[in-house]
Amino acid sequence: MRVRRWAAGVAACVSVLAVAALPPPAGAQDKPRPKSASPAGGASAAKAPQAVDYAQRFASQCAACHGANGRSDMAGTPVLAGQPSLYAITQLFLFREGRRSNQPMTAVAKTLSDDDMRGFADYIGTLPPVPAPAPRAPDDAARMAKGKSLSEQHKCVFCHGANLDGGQQVPRIAGQKEDYLQESLRGFKSGNRPGYTQAMTAAVSQVSVEDLDTLAYYAARFAGK
Ligand code: HEC
Ligand code: HEC
Repeated sequence: MRVRRWAAGVAACVSVLAVAALPPPAGAQDKPRPKSASPAGGASAAKAPQAVDYAQRFASQCAACHGANGRSDMAGTPVLAGQPSLYAITQLFLFREGRRSNQPMTAVAKTLSDDDMRGFADYIGTLPPVPAPAPRAPDDAARMAKGKSLSEQHKCVFCHGANLDGGQQVPRIAGQKEDYLQESLRGFKSGNRPGYTQAMTAAVSQVSVEDLDTLAYYAARFAGK
């Protein structure tokens, strides 16, 4: 399968580049990371100190905007639940290095060490997808059908998968918030969001803004095949 091979190739490339581009964490070699003070303590904390640590840190540092389960109601704030960890770490890296910009999220990313980015990304990778809340209005069937055909015509499904659930460095877009999808797609087209590779810039270059908005409408409401 062509697409799988493409995805695997880019995935290997992204992980190598991301690792190569990251400076070594300060003092990583000589100083062991301080263990988190876990109120739970006990056996489970001893078994998986890293997971417990970042679950707690997510609750205190990220959940206010992204929601405790990775889906918040805050406008413009993406759903993180169900995102692959490789995608998450790549985006955290882009924010930290100033290659993707958003004032509140960049401010958070600037404070993260390499270990933090890995820890948060691994934790995000464990969050099960959360279905979108029931819509206020019934879906516009004609617009959904148009979105589906656009997603095939422009090969969105090739990379994001028939279920639009992503994988590796490709994000899940099914059930993502419509306002955020719209903003992201327009950003790839205008150049405001450069992306880690040229994949998305190329993918949207021949798609009109009107059709991008239809794709955002469709993906936000798409609940899987
Ligand atoms: C003040 C609110 C705020 C806080 C706190 C916050 N974020 Fe974000 N985050 C955002 C916004 C807004 C975006 C979307 C930025 C954009 O549109 O480019 C975002 C985007 C992201 C993305 C990219 C998602 C995607 O689909 O591309 C990741 C990953 C992420 N945040 C992880 C985190 C983690 C991990 C933390 C905690 C360490 C955190 N965020 C804390 C507001 C926040
Ligand atoms: C060649 C593979 C490929 C194709 C084709 C493709 N995408 Fe993507 N898409 C990606 C990758 C990789 C990313 C991560 C962007 C980056 O480099 O930071 C992405 C990111 C996105 C995002 C951002 C999601 C988020 O959480 O921030 C949206 C939305 C998106 N794609 C929608 C689409 C749509 C709609 C189409 C069809 C018009 C499409 N993609 C076609 C690979 C692809």
